[in-house]
Amino acid sequence: MAADPRPVVELTDRINGAAALAVPIRPGDDGPVIAARADEVRALLPDADLLDVVRRNSGKGEAGEVHVLPLLGSGTPRTLYLVGIGDGSLPALRNAAAALVRRAKDEPALTSALVPDGDPAQVTAVAESTALAVYTFSQKSKPKARALQRVEIVAAESARPAVERAQVVAAAAMRCRDLVNTPSLQKTPQWLAEQAREACADGGVDVRIRDEQQLAAEGFGGILAVGMGSVRPPRLIEMSYRPAGATRHVVLVGKGITFDSGGLSIKPNDNMMSMKTDMAGGAAVIATMAALQALGVTARVTGLVPAAENMPSGSAQRPGDVITHYGGRTVEVLNTDAEGRLVLADALAYADAHLDPDVVVDLATLTGAASLGLGKRHAALFTSGEDLADELVEAGAAAGERLWPMPLVEDYRASLDSDIADLRNIADPAAHFSGGAIVAALFLREFTGGRRWAHLDIAGPARAESDEGDVTKGGTGFGVRTLLRWLAPPA
Ligand code: BES
Ligand code: MN
Ligand code: ZN
Repeated sequence: MAADPRPVVELTDRINGAAALAVPIRPGDDGPVIAARADEVRALLPDADLLDVVRRNSGKGEAGEVHVLPLLGSGTPRTLYLVGIGDGSLPALRNAAAALVRRAKDEPALTSALVPDGDPAQVTAVAESTALAVYTFSQKSKPKARALQRVEIVAAESARPAVERAQVVAAAAMRCRDLVNTPSLQKTPQWLAEQAREACADGGVDVRIRDEQQLAAEGFGGILAVGMGSVRPPRLIEMSYRPAGATRHVVLVGKGITFDSGGLSIKPNDNMMSMKTDMAGGAAVIATMAALQALGVTARVTGLVPAAENMPSGSAQRPGDVITHYGGRTVEVLNTDAEGRLVLADALAYADAHLDPDVVVDLATLTGAASLGLGKRHAALFTSGEDLADELVEAGAAAGERLWPMPLVEDYRASLDSDIADLRNIADPAAHFSGGAIVAALFLREFTGGRRWAHLDIAGPARAESDEGDVTKGGTGFGVRTLLRWLAPPA
C-alpha cells in the first residue's frame, strides 16, 4: 500500500561505532549542556567543544532544536546530532525525537541516545515518535526510496519491553494512517471490511462482516439509508477479541464513512476534498483491535465499524425522509450531510441490545463544529460520567494525544425533537444554539441505552495539513495511541 519501507526502530545498548549519533542537550544555567552520558560523548571527541556550535547557532537546548556537526576524520561518529530536549518531559521528548528523525532522514542508519538512562515511559515515547515522524504514504508511479532504514534507540536491555510496546503502538497508528490516506476510489465499505479481516487475522480477533442483505434483515436502517445513494453497498464490521478470563467488556465504535460527499445535501468541493478521511474513527478502531493481543489486553473488546459511502444519486436518501434505526427508533433526516450520527446510532443501539458492554467508546470525524472552539489539535470528548473523561484524558496525555472534555448541554436536547419521528438528525434551526458538536453528541447519547459511554469527536485531530511533531500530513492515526494506552496501561 505505502511505497516506502518503514524504518526499523530497535534497541541498542552502545553508542560506540555509530555512523550518525544523536545526543540530547538541554538548557543549563550558563547555556546549553549535554543532558545524558556527557563523559562518554565527550570521550568520542576529546578535543572538541561540542557545545560551541550550539552556542554559535544561538541554540539553547529547547525541545525540537537539532544542531548537526559533521565530523572530520575516518572514525565514528561521522555526524553528531545535538538535539534539544528542553525540560525532558514526555511531550518535549516526543518533539525532540520527531525533529531529529526528520532532520536525519538522509542517513542510512541513526543511533539515537536521547534517553539513555532508560526510564520506560521516556523510551516508549521516543521510540514511538521516532517511528511515527518519518511515516509517508505515496501512490506515485515511481516512489522515492527513503535513505533512513534503521534507528537504534540507546537504552539498557531492561528497556526492551518499552521499545517493543512502542513498535506495536506505532505500527498500529501507521496502519490507521494508511487506511485513512487511501483514496476512496479504492476505499469502498467492502474494501475497508477486507482490511479489517486482514489486520485482525493474526491478532486473536474474530471478524464478522454484515453485507447489505444482512443489514436489511436485521434492521440496520441508519447504515442502509446513508449507503443507499452509492453503488458501493454498506457493511457493518464487527471484530471480537475475547481473552480467557476477561471480566470487563469494552465496545469501541468507529465512524466508517469511506467518502462523505454530503449526499443530496451536497458539500462544496472545498469541504469535500478531504472527505476520504471520514472513516478515521473506524480506522482507529480497526487498528486498535488488531493490536490488542500483542499488548496483552485482558478485557473483552468488541469493535464495531459501520461503513458506508455517502453519495448523492437517484437512489440516495432525501432530506425529509424518516428512517428506522436498529432497535426501532425513527429519525427524520433533515440534512443528509449529518450522516455519521445515523450510522453510529445503529452501531450504538446494537451494542446496547446485544453486547452488554461495561463501557462504550465511539470515535468519529463527526462535526466541523468540534474544531471551531478547540482547534485541530484536540479531540472533543463527551462522556456520560466524569471518571471516564479523566481516564481517557490521562491516557491521551500519556500517549501523546490531546482530548478536551466538553459538556452535554441538556438545554439543547429538545432541539432534536421531531414533529413526525422520534428524533431529527440536525437541531431545529429555530433553536439557534450553535454548538454543533454538542448537539451531535446528544443525538448519539439517545442510542447508548444509558450505558457508560464516551464519544470522541476527532474531526479536527484525525487529519493534519502539515507535518508537526510526530504527526505527518494527512491521516494522523489519532485515537489509536489513546485507546491502546487506556486498554493496555504499561506494567
Ligand atoms: N464528516 C463531516 C464532519 C467533518 C467536517 C469532518 C470537516 C472533518 C472535517 C460530517 O459528516 C458533517 O458533514 N457534519 C456536518 C453536520 C451538519 C450538517 C449538522 C458539519 O459539520 O457541517
Ligand atoms: Mn457529512
Ligand atoms: Zn461525515
